Amino acid sequence: MDRIFAAGPWVTESDINIVLDALRNGWYEHPFHYCEKFQAEFAAYHGRKYGIMTPNCTTAIHLLLTALGVQDGDEVIVPECTWIGSCAGVSYLRANPIFADIDPVSWCLDPESVRARLSPKTRAIIAVDLYGNMPDMPALQKIADERGIPLIEDAAEGVGSTLHGKRAGSFGVASVFSFHRTKTITTGEGGMLLLDDEKLYQRCMFLRDHGRRVDGKLYYNYEITYKYMPFNVQAALGYAQFKRVDELVARKRHHLNTYRAGLAGIADLALNPEPEGGVNGAWITGLLFGRSHGIDKDKAIAHFTAKGIPGRPFFYPLSSLPAYPGLREKYEPLNPVAYEVSERGVNLPGALNLTDDQLQFIIDAVKELVAGGK
Ligand SMILES: Cc1ncc(COP(=O)(O)O)c(C=O)c1O
Repeated sequence: MDRIFAAGPWVTESDINIVLDALRNGWYEHPFHYCEKFQAEFAAYHGRKYGIMTPNCTTAIHLLLTALGVQDGDEVIVPECTWIGSCAGVSYLRANPIFADIDPVSWCLDPESVRARLSPKTRAIIAVDLYGNMPDMPALQKIADERGIPLIEDAAEGVGSTLHGKRAGSFGVASVFSFHRTKTITTGEGGMLLLDDEKLYQRCMFLRDHGRRVDGKLYYNYEITYKYMPFNVQAALGYAQFKRVDELVARKRHHLNTYRAGLAGIADLALNPEPEGGVNGAWITGLLFGRSHGIDKDKAIAHFTAKGIPGRPFFYPLSSLPAYPGLREKYEPLNPVAYEVSERGVNLPGALNLTDDQLQFIIDAVKELVAGGK
């Protein structure tokens, strides 16, 4: 059997031809042709007014938080379990990430926990569509509205998901996406910020390109800001992949559905949920071993590794990481669900080149682990 990869893209000849077109023709009069098309069409697809490509999703969040005026000493509430890219931008601005617990079913931000973390210093809430799952956005929006603070949707992992008929990436004041090489739509490295408010959009565009204004004055900078500009060739790949979004998401959903069907006979296992009226874009299939199995993520990953299967750990609670020293003591009792889910959760391989034989091989490996793990 060919090597199994944890993650990786599906690039077709049509994608390559679009990239070649950008390389051949995307200069002189068309240096931003694909950036503009991709930004506009990706925004429209998500029911947003504006799209801004960025070098990656981490910088999209940093740009947005800067535009929202987050600064030294402010607090931003983020889920305890997510990739650090969701909240690194908070620290870049010398503000403090405040970790809230996750919901035991969706593994996403728990609104009640968010309520408990609010303080007079809270400036924003960042909700994450973890692995394609979605949090209770209406409840989070209500909290944000009551406090008059922005809700930001980190939809880096949410492409293709919907909640109550609304696409992931259409909630809150703005949403962000990642096109990292492991994501459903890829540009290798890349990101996008989507938003509706014109003033906020103009401020983000100004901050993205060295503090210049579109006022005709060349080489004239009004503030020292960032250089988070996109590249047309990168955008061409994103645009090409975006044109195939249905096919890419369908393949991811095939992974989740195959894993779910293959493991259906085993009690006390949880995979990405798909709530009533919602669609899970299934960027990655998460597998949570119930307590009765006595299997933690280290044991599961060791078993998979011995079989050549690249299992990945569920995200560690951020407050447990060396990057946030001294926070575990405070947050472990406050965020018990995150600590427990993380301990017993793994990600199954989700590369877009996985074959059905490989999926079956992985399912058999999980069954074997469960049978021997009791
Ligand atoms: C939920 C989440 N947020 C943010 C990021 C950061 O994305 P990027 O690597 O494009 O900066 C990622 C990427 O892995 C992610 O999964």
